[in-house]
Amino acid sequence: MSNIKRIGVLTSGGDAPGMNNAVRAVTLAALAQGIEVIGILGGYSGLVKDNVRTLTAKDVSGIVGNGGTALYSDRCHEFKTEKGMAKAVATCKKYQIDGIIACGGDGTFRGATDLSNLGIPTIGIPCTIDNDITSTDYAIGYDTAMNTVIQMIDRLRDTCESHARCNVVEVMGNHAGGIAVQTAIATGAVGCVIAETPIEEDAIIAKINAHKAAGQRSFIVVVSELIPNYADPAFAKRIQDATEVETKFARLAHVVRGGDPTLRDRVTAAKMGARAVKELLGGKSNIVVCEQNGEIVCLDINFAQTADRIYKGKAKPEEIEKYSAEEQAIIMATVEKKQNYFKEMMALADEISG
Ligand code: F6P
Repeated sequence: MSNIKRIGVLTSGGDAPGMNNAVRAVTLAALAQGIEVIGILGGYSGLVKDNVRTLTAKDVSGIVGNGGTALYSDRCHEFKTEKGMAKAVATCKKYQIDGIIACGGDGTFRGATDLSNLGIPTIGIPCTIDNDITSTDYAIGYDTAMNTVIQMIDRLRDTCESHARCNVVEVMGNHAGGIAVQTAIATGAVGCVIAETPIEEDAIIAKINAHKAAGQRSFIVVVSELIPNYADPAFAKRIQDATEVETKFARLAHVVRGGDPTLRDRVTAAKMGARAVKELLGGKSNIVVCEQNGEIVCLDINFAQTADRIYKGKAKPEEIEKYSAEEQAIIMATVEKKQNYFKEMMALADEISG
């Protein structure tokens, strides 16, 4: 029998469609086990600032179809300080919160590890439109964000077709090109620029010129944000100068983060939320709920964070060496899978670009 009688749930970092579904699933799964649920408002800042409220089934019943997060979100810098963490632990003690489920991205998971180390069992659920958490194939919010992007690009395509124009479209993703490459494929873009693979500016221009010569009127080029010289109107100008096709630049920005969650995000959130409660009540801590090859699995957060840092080139050798040969092989396979994914998707985007 678990010692846990009351759990907290929070959403942190950039909001993601489906966060509400994760909160709802956590709340209902816990209540069904006779566990009380405390909603922590504004991510970790709710713990630091003592801003919490009890959640009932009624509180979460109406949020099933809503984007954003009803628990609000924040990137809380004070929480990263010793003083801030002490306040967070004091809030947990005050409300007798025996464990926490934290929904968010890699920053959220760092906070989860800190809380776990301070004696508050914490479990992470990946929620980020960027889908940039290496240990999970899928993060809640990604599908909704991509569906929003293709709707926006289809609209841009309509007007490009009418006016014989090209549109460079910058999409979110932080440093990950998943949203860009998938939506490029889905919208028949003539080019795609992401950080994971070499940039082929000359090839994109050559393709526009060739398709234009064959009578094509509209062109879309998708660029992932934060790529210097490309996520920039200057890239549109270079295309225009080299092709004589009038070229506009559109930055979709936070539009991509809003909107009602898709079925994929709702169902994944339901599965991950229910699983997180099961693991917490089963005595687990400092793990992240992941999806791998269609299955929901749980990984140690430190292990998941190391895989993430290796993939992002941020890991120091000693961080890797502390794992067994078998664990290192698993991490490297995860990293390679991600790298290959981008190569394959970009090859497909190129093959069927138009
Ligand atoms: O991590 C999600 C994300 O939307 C990124 O795609 C983007 O770079 C960042 O957050 C924007 O953050 P903010 O909401 O602080 O502007």
